[in-house]
Amino acid sequence: MSIQKLGVIGVGQMGSGIVQVAAQAGLTVLASDKDGSRNEKAKAKIEKGLSRLVEKGKLSDEDLKATLGRITWTTSLQDFADQDLVIEAITENPQAKEELFKQLDEICSEKTVLATNTSSISVTRLAAVTRRPNKFIGLHFFNPVPVMKLLEVIKALSTDEATYAVAKEIGEKLNKQIVTAQDSAAFIVNRTLIPFLNEAAFVLYEGVGTAEDIDQAIKLGLNHPMGPLELSDFVGLDVVLAVLDVLYREFGDVKYRACPLLRKYVEAGWLGRKTGRGFYNYA
Ligand code: CAA
Repeated sequence: MSIQKLGVIGVGQMGSGIVQVAAQAGLTVLASDKDGSRNEKAKAKIEKGLSRLVEKGKLSDEDLKATLGRITWTTSLQDFADQDLVIEAITENPQAKEELFKQLDEICSEKTVLATNTSSISVTRLAAVTRRPNKFIGLHFFNPVPVMKLLEVIKALSTDEATYAVAKEIGEKLNKQIVTAQDSAAFIVNRTLIPFLNEAAFVLYEGVGTAEDIDQAIKLGLNHPMGPLELSDFVGLDVVLAVLDVLYREFGDVKYRACPLLRKYVEAGWLGRKTGRGFYNYA
């Protein structure tokens, strides 16, 4: 299959990044959020990102216009009937994702491959709500999508080889390096990353170091681009907590118990950069 038409549903931080790189790669992209104002926000963000590339001399004005011209914005799922591949990047909520995939399964033509950008939910479970579980796969991108080289591909139990080939094709088209993971909770990267971020929250909670010292220590001591608390704020504390809760439920292992401080921050609505406050204050 040659993917020409890509649909992206949910255009928050991850979805808008996927839309941008796909349009830059020459694909025709249909982007949708059920909330139209999020479409407007994503559009502005992509225009800003591409304009920065023009300023740096990495993209011409014509290419910027052509890239934006390849993106169509909609709020209607009905428009997705004729896509080759549809990537879901909505909120990390299993019920919401299941509901969306049931609807997409009704709307999309037989050829359409469905994919989820979930960072922790069972891909097999999502595939099973559709009548095309063989044409279903996990495509996990990383934030910021235009910068991060990795695409983690997750095969559901039911994914067939033709669908896996589509995942490899989209990875190549978007200039990402592929790593394939089995469908086990949080896959490879988040299974490793999220307990590390949680441990940093515990280190803060127990007063072992200040937030600044924890981040500085990890950046200088391990050569990480961001410290773990800064990275948690970047990813979203709600996302970090949601992944921890999935790991805890799935494996029943106490090592995945979320730090109470993290849970409290989420209860307070301190979700990190996106709300202006998390471990740090961005106001
Ligand atoms: N969109 C597009 N480009 C961006 C960008 C964005 N949001 N943010 C930064 N960039 C680009 C810059 O334009 C710059 O490009 P050039 O080198 O061509 O000039 C380059 O990235 C470096 O940016 P900066 O100099 O502004 O800043 P930096 O050197 O501090 O890098 C960073 C910023 C790339 C975000 C870096 O701090 C980093 O790699 N942080 C770690 C990110 C990470 O771990 N992401 C994974 C999170 S986990 C996840 O996503 C999975 C999940 O399910 C939770």
